[in-house]
Amino acid sequence: MHSVERGQVVLEARGISKRFGEVVANDRIDLQLRAGEIHAVLGENGAGKTTLMRILFGELQPDEGEIFFQGQRVRFHSPRDAIQLGIGMVHQERKLIPAHTVVENIILGHPDTGTVLDLSRAEHRIAALCERYGFRLPLQAKVWQLSEGEKQIVEILKALYHGARVLIMDEPTSVLSPPEVERLLHSLRTMASEDLAVIPFITHKLPVVLEHSDRVTILRRGRVVAELETKQATEQSLASAMVGREVTLQVERIEVPIGEPVLTVDDLWARDDRGVLAVQGVSFEVRAGEILGIAGVAGNGQEILSDALAGLRPVERGRVRLAGVDITRVPVLQRWKLGLGYIPTERRDVGSIPDFSLVDNVLLNYYSEPAFSRRGVLAASEARALTGQLLREYSVVAAGPEAPARSLSGGNLQKVIVGRVLSRRPRLLIAALPTHGLDVGAAEFIHRKLLEAKRAGTGIILISEDLDEVLMLSDRVAAIYEGQFTGIVPAAEASKELIGEMMAGLRRGRL
Ligand SMILES: Nc1ncnc2c1ncn2[C@@H]1O[C@H](COP(=O)(O)OP(=O)(O)O)[C@@H](O)[C@H]1O
Ligand SMILES: [Mg+2]
Repeated sequence: MHSVERGQVVLEARGISKRFGEVVANDRIDLQLRAGEIHAVLGENGAGKTTLMRILFGELQPDEGEIFFQGQRVRFHSPRDAIQLGIGMVHQERKLIPAHTVVENIILGHPDTGTVLDLSRAEHRIAALCERYGFRLPLQAKVWQLSEGEKQIVEILKALYHGARVLIMDEPTSVLSPPEVERLLHSLRTMASEDLAVIPFITHKLPVVLEHSDRVTILRRGRVVAELETKQATEQSLASAMVGREVTLQVERIEVPIGEPVLTVDDLWARDDRGVLAVQGVSFEVRAGEILGIAGVAGNGQEILSDALAGLRPVERGRVRLAGVDITRVPVLQRWKLGLGYIPTERRDVGSIPDFSLVDNVLLNYYSEPAFSRRGVLAASEARALTGQLLREYSVVAAGPEAPARSLSGGNLQKVIVGRVLSRRPRLLIAALPTHGLDVGAAEFIHRKLLEAKRAGTGIILISEDLDEVLMLSDRVAAIYEGQFTGIVPAAEASKELIGEMMAGLRRGRL
């Protein structure tokens, strides 16, 4: 890439269209990426962001449209062509070899490799890149030993090592804790300013866009619906453009009297599937009408904790009481009867049975109730009526109560799961990543339902990787790091900085 002026268009898409069967993933998209800018590409799930980036990286061929690089029309037959021009891409899924070192992974596939394989020279170059952009990484470590955030840095370094000046990043922040997000964007900023590189990155995190990008392009259903300078945008305007209607991002936090403890957890320990103690001595309490948020980066034990509380996983040590009753070793069904509701992380396999109809899925939570089970025969008409009502109340887009669960989109399926649990008016609700991967509209809806349940006196545990969500809804906020709580803080004291650092294990709040 020969030198360019700041602000000059480096990479451009004109009229790009791409269909997958019936789906129009990209519909006549124009995108201009300028030197020196961090360009956020924003859109709901399925809006076509990844498809567009894969086309710009030569991984997919467009059905229509053209790509220009520094004003020249280019045709990419494979990523090799894009890489040769200095375009790199960091995918959402990692493409690294776990048993190899960081250095080996980075130099793999480089033209020098195989001719003069000079590892120590390579390591020097890589160390220099780290120094320049502020990355901290153990270069001799094997990739399997690294955290998700570190693996992502390996991929960035790999792109830079191979000469990338345009760095496409697909949702880089989703695996990072807030301080790691700050650090990454600081590094990207250095790249953008020093080398006049162009950095398009995809995200659905609005605060990150507002704080760190220069321009935003918003996609909806495969089309560009807005392109603007970040300083002209607000969180509200971005959200509305993404969804295509007005959305209320900030649901009103409601104050309700906080009641008696509904859940008391004492010194809880539990193992993950590999037998590792993933939850190590967690203690807390949740009261009626209270939302306790548990913030954490994926993989810090929150999933094991929620499964253990719900009875889906044995407790190694410690005690769990639901409204005074010891449920530490009580089976799942019995817990439901005692008033525990669970929205699991895995909505397709744990939360629902894909091949079952919606009615049967709703019944899963009810089949021990007298009204639905007369001498073991399920009262089909009542079940169908309840399901129909639920579909209406939650505005679920589905063919009807008999539609199989697998035919619903993630957001609609989650509404069914949430509705099913809340219609039982649980005393305690464990909501594990209730809006993970949902678009802004569906997330807003789920937030409202959680607050309605709170108003009705349900105690709620909200487990989330999204710190903004936790801060918006919770009365108290706990952070989980490597299987332990690093603190539990009342909402009034729970600043983003504090909880962010607690999530990264850098600081402790009071317990
Ligand atoms: N390889 C593929 N095969 C079939 N459909 C695809 C493929 N990749 C993406 N799609 C579809 O194209 C649409 C846009 O997807 P994508 O570009 O991944 O969106 P985003 O990254 O904004 O979530 C979606 O409906 C998706 O299901
Ligand atoms: Mg995507």
